Amino acid sequence: AGRCVVAVDGPSGSGKSTVSRRLAAGLGARYLDTGAMYRALTWAVLRSGVELTDTESVAKVAAEADLRIGTDPQGYAVTVDGTDVSTAIRGAEVTAAVSAVAAVAAVRELLVDRQRRVIADAGRIVVEGRDIGSVVAPDAELKVYLTASEAARAKRRSAEDAADVAATAADLARRDRLDSTRKVNPLQQAPDAVVLDTTELGIDEVVARLREMLTERG
Ligand code: C5P
Repeated sequence: AGRCVVAVDGPSGSGKSTVSRRLAAGLGARYLDTGAMYRALTWAVLRSGVELTDTESVAKVAAEADLRIGTDPQGYAVTVDGTDVSTAIRGAEVTAAVSAVAAVAAVRELLVDRQRRVIADAGRIVVEGRDIGSVVAPDAELKVYLTASEAARAKRRSAEDAADVAATAADLARRDRLDSTRKVNPLQQAPDAVVLDTTELGIDEVVARLREMLTERG
C-alpha cells in the first residue's frame, strides 16, 4: 500500500496515545510518539544538570544527545545515549520540565527534522503530538484534533499515573497553558483538521470513526 500519514494532535489526556496506537496497529502502520521524543531530550537535560532557563545550554545538550525511538505501535523503546529511558520519561520530574524544553526553538527544529525523516522512511504512519498537522506533516492524508473536557482529561491521566485527580488537573492546566502560548509551534488545531471531542466517546468509537474517514478518503 502507498503512503498514508495520519496526524493526531491535541492536549494531554485527550486520548491521543491510545487512539493513535490502536489506529496504527489496525492499519498495519508505524506509530510515532513525538511527545516521547521531547520527554527523552528533557531527561537528557535534567541529567546534564544545566538550568532549564539557560536555553543555549539546553539546546546544546539536546543536539548532542543520541536519541532513538522505535515505531512499533505494540511497544517501542526510547533510548538516550544507550540508556533505556522508556519508564523514566513518564516520571513526575520529566513531566514537570518537558514544556520548558519543548519551548526552546532549537530543540523543536531538531526534533521536527527528525520526525519528518521518520515519517518519510515509514510511508504509512500515525504520528501524535501537538504540532503534527500544523507543522511537522502539513500534507498528512488525515489530520485529527482530539479534545475532551478538562475533567475527563484529568480523570484519564490520573488513572494512568495512579495519581491524585486534583494534582493531575493542575498539572494538565499548567502544561496546556505553556504548550498553547509558547512562541514556536504552539499546540494548534490545523484549519483542515477533523475535531473529535472524546469526552463522551469510547476509544473504540473514536478509532472506528477515524478508520471510516480514511476509507472515505480512499
Ligand atoms: O504527549 P505528551 O504529554 O507526552 O507530551 C509531553 C510534552 O511534550 C507536551 O506537554 C509538550 O510540551 C511537548 N510536545 C510538543 N510537541 C509535540 C509533542 C509534545 O511540544 N509534537
